Amino acid sequence: MKYLVTSATGDLAFNSVKFLVELVGKEKIAVTVRSLEKAKKLEDLGVEIKIADYFDKASLVTAFQGVNRVLFVSSGELDKRKEQHKNVVEALIEANVDFVAYTSAPNAQKSKAIVAPDHKFTEHLIEESGLEYSFLRNNWYLENEAMLFDAIKNTTTYIYSAGDGKAGWAKKSDYAEGAAKVLAGDFMKKKIYEFSGQSLSYSELASVLQKGKKYNINLDSVTDDEYRRVLETSGFPEGAINFIVGIQKDIREGELDTSSTDLEDILGRELKLDIT
Ligand SMILES: NC(=O)c1ccc[n+]([C@@H]2O[C@H](COP(=O)([O-])OP(=O)(O)OC[C@H]3O[C@@H](n4cnc5c(N)ncnc54)[C@H](OP(=O)(O)O)[C@@H]3O)[C@@H](O)[C@H]2O)c1
Repeated sequence: MKYLVTSATGDLAFNSVKFLVELVGKEKIAVTVRSLEKAKKLEDLGVEIKIADYFDKASLVTAFQGVNRVLFVSSGELDKRKEQHKNVVEALIEANVDFVAYTSAPNAQKSKAIVAPDHKFTEHLIEESGLEYSFLRNNWYLENEAMLFDAIKNTTTYIYSAGDGKAGWAKKSDYAEGAAKVLAGDFMKKKIYEFSGQSLSYSELASVLQKGKKYNINLDSVTDDEYRRVLETSGFPEGAINFIVGIQKDIREGELDTSSTDLEDILGRELKLDIT
């Protein structure tokens, strides 16, 4: 059995490789990276390193030769992501891979979240591919909340526009461990995993993160337009502002409120949230 993790220089993928090494052993693992310069940490793990780019289908077909199961981590380059993901799925088919676990988004088929269209597109391609598959619909990473962490650490005000909307935050390392376990284990059991923590609003998340500590930050719930102005004043570029405010709107409107025990069930333990 040969396992492969794509774009393994990324945080989630790299952490998944580390867990996979513990589960199946480094000899059975290959990874793809775009450049060897960033691959030192993977060399240190002793896994096989292959060069492939999601924009270059031939490189993917070559990399997937002889591989049975692939963890396909969605591209971090949001521009032309459908094109990139189509290349990956076609390469999986051409290389006769048996199984793919794809890192998707919460409730991807029905979601109106700004990140959902690429994931919905990719899930459809995989469903029609004839491959065995699991969708790992990862909810929001706790690590995305660096601004909340800073507010807590410095006892300042955290400004947001998601209101009382909830998301199922979990740590990236927990999603990574879940992905490794699906890839290594009894993958036929389930096709769709809604990986998430317990659904929490920002005020609930802030109180979980402050529990037992002396911090007591202020939360300032504002409108999207007010939040946009705060981000502009802080010097964020327009594209980033659109994305950040878009996610706040998604949370407010319940698009990330997909609480599920799928991740806890796979990990066999309660998920813990703390400042990273
Ligand atoms: N659920 C969430 O909260 C959330 C938040 C952010 C992102 N995501 C999604 O989850 C994925 C993993 O998250 P992460 O934090 O591990 O992301 P990350 O650390 O930013 O890693 C992104 C990876 O995508 C790779 N990549 C970009 N363009 C590529 C291409 N054309 N071909 C092959 N690889 C390419 C990068 O390769 P290089 O190292 O060569 O640049 C990098 O390895 C992201 O890529 C994104 O799709 C989810």
